[in-house]
Amino acid sequence: MPHEPAGTDVDASEFWENRYRTGRGEDGRMWSGRVNATVEAQVAGLTPGSALELGCGEGADALWLAGHGWTVTAVDLSAAALEVAALHATREGLADRVTWQQADLATWHPTQEYDLVTSAFLHSPFEFPREAILRRAASAVAPGGRLLVVGHAASPPGSGHDHDPDAPPLPTPAEVVASLDLSADWVIESNTTVERAVTWRGHDVTLVDAVVRVRRPMH
Ligand SMILES: C[S@@+](CC[C@H](N)C(=O)[O-])C[C@H]1O[C@@H](n2cnc3c(N)ncnc32)[C@H](O)[C@@H]1O
Repeated sequence: MPHEPAGTDVDASEFWENRYRTGRGEDGRMWSGRVNATVEAQVAGLTPGSALELGCGEGADALWLAGHGWTVTAVDLSAAALEVAALHATREGLADRVTWQQADLATWHPTQEYDLVTSAFLHSPFEFPREAILRRAASAVAPGGRLLVVGHAASPPGSGHDHDPDAPPLPTPAEVVASLDLSADWVIESNTTVERAVTWRGHDVTLVDAVVRVRRPMH
């Protein structure tokens, strides 16, 4: 993902809004519309319940969760992305299973607990308090529930991230776990990188995902 050049007068909200409004393909979406394979692999074996997704974008993961029995609240900064998400929720008959919420996660606080809190590729070329957001995410996990954080462990080819000295660093899985500042009774169920073969901008490439899944104790 390109880093927004220093000195630009575009803020994060405008950046994402423009990106989603101008980046749409023929199907009306910017992203593929398919659940992320790593998210699917991590969640497929869990018993459905309540879920919160942070930075849901156009909602592909949230819709997959809803289609697999979860009751989902999905939050993103971009109204344009959420419009697409809501449209597809209606088309897929899942509108009553997902609540879409437009909010800046830098200041947004969850008001209830969830069996699953998930975040996939919550990266931004703008400074934002990702670690604090993920700590709040952990605090919203119900007893016995899980937090899943999937992110880029290496820059996607062609993203320009590698060449930008101002780009925010990509944390390793271990750095994500450490930044969550969990008490010792949480169980670290995944703290690893996973390779994923995709077609990215017309090329077959291998992406590397950082996968952290942690479970809150029952008591
Ligand atoms: C790389 S996209 C990932 C979208 C989605 N999770 C996916 O995997 O397709 C990052 C998302 O984070 C959202 N985002 C960035 N900064 C945010 C903020 N401060 N508050 C809420 N969402 C934010 C963007 O609008 C965008 O949808």
